[in-house]
Formats: sequence, structure tokens, C-alpha cells
Amino acid sequence: MLRRPLKWLGTGACLLMLAGSVGCSPFDTVMVTVFGRSMRDQPSFDPYENPLMPAEGTVPFAAGNYAAAPGEWNLGQPEGAVVPAPFAQIALVQSDPAVVNLANPVEPTAESLARGEQLYLRTCAVCHGEQGFGNGTVTQAGMVAFPLISPQAVAYSDGYLYGMIRVGRGLMPAYGHQIGHFDRWNIVNYVRTLQGVLPAAGTAPPEDAAEPASPGN
Ligand code: HEC
Repeated sequence: MLRRPLKWLGTGACLLMLAGSVGCSPFDTVMVTVFGRSMRDQPSFDPYENPLMPAEGTVPFAAGNYAAAPGEWNLGQPEGAVVPAPFAQIALVQSDPAVVNLANPVEPTAESLARGEQLYLRTCAVCHGEQGFGNGTVTQAGMVAFPLISPQAVAYSDGYLYGMIRVGRGLMPAYGHQIGHFDRWNIVNYVRTLQGVLPAAGTAPPEDAAEPASPGN
């Protein structure tokens, strides 16, 4: 009952504004008043809204982020090191053997390294620097520097690096929700080239290039 006078008030205000040709939507208000709705009033998508959400209660398998069980977390898939969710990062610090011994299933092909580089520059370089020196823009702004080319980081197993990307550690945030299973391995491969453990893309032996492409996520 109260809404109708309010609408007329709105129309009046809009017409006034129209007189001053200020941006408003008097036509919309008239349409709403006469027909009950206007073109502006429609079920359109918001910016960044995902038009096709995953079915309720599901997680994309490729993300490798499915929970082992309620309250439990998989540190690494598909083999999986299952730990209670709140302790996932602590378990990683303690170097859970199931994570540390995870075998890297993705060959460091030119394609894997290119994908790894793209994701590294997008996700990791802000902190660890484009070359892994630990001098990214965030670090320059005052965050603790953690180089990836240090002997300590070189000594970590592929599985440990995978686990770090998956759940983070200490000050480093987790990226498991943004970077899927295979892409974590692509980044690990790329970090290995920064460290000089693997040859950089383009210098890999030709038989590597013939390996089947690994999925992008
Ligand atoms: C927001 C800044 C930030 C981003 C982005 C980030 N890291 Fe880190 N990273 C850190 C910090 C801080 C540490 C030190 C963690 C700690 O407190 O033990 C760290 C530590 C590490 C280490 C262990 C280094 C060591 O010597 O122990 C690795 C490996 C690593 N990060 C890899 C990555 C990779 C790969 C990415 C991209 C997927 C990434 N980080 C993105 C901040 C970041």
C-alpha cells in the first residue's frame, strides 16, 4: 500500500531530473508504474557471475580439491595424504611422507613448461619474483623474501612443492582452489627450470617434445 505513493513520488523525482536532463531512468519508472516491470528488471547475469555453477555438493575432479571425507583434506591427489582439515598446513611443514613422496606424473615437456611459466608469472611471481629470486612486487613492498632458487627450495621434492601450492605454508597462502591438479605439476616443472634442475623450455631433448600433452588443469 505504501509502495504505490512512493512510486509516484519516484516518477515525479525522475521527471524533475529529466527536465534537467540528468541521468536517471524516468522511462523505466513510468513502465514499472504502468506495466509493473521494465526491461531493466530482468534476470540477467551480474559481472563475473558464473552462468553455469557446478551441481550442488560437487567439486570439479580436475581441481583435485575434493575432500577425502567430511573434515578431512587431501594434500595430494590421486594418491592422497589424508589429514584433518585444520592441520593440513602443519602436516605439510612436518613433511608428511605421503606428500613428499608423491610422484610427479607430468613430464616437463615444452607444453608443460609453457603452461607452468604462464601460471607462475600469473600467481607466484608477485611474491617470489619472475626469476624466483624472492623479489616480487609484494616482497618489495615489505613482505619476507623467500627465494625459490635457494638450496633449501631446490632440495624439496616435487611432491613437497606440489603440496605447498595445494595448501600453502605459514605465511604463504594456499592456491589449491585456484590451481588444479595437473597445473600444480606444470608449475613445479617450471620452478625446476628456474632452479636449473631441469633445462629451460626450448633446450629440452627432442624426445621430450614428443610426449603427449598433459591436460591444462
Ligand atoms: C602472497 C605471496 C606469495 C605467493 C603469491 C606465493 N608464495 Fe610461495 N611463499 C611465500 C612465503 C611468505 C613463503 C614462506 C612460507 C613460510 O612462512 O614458511 C613462501 C614459500 C614458498 C616455498 C618454500 C621456500 C622455502 O625455501 O622454504 C615454495 C617452494 C613456494 N613458496 C612456492 C610458491 C609457488 C610455486 C607459488 C605460486 C603457485 C607461490 N609460492 C606463491 C609467499 C608467496
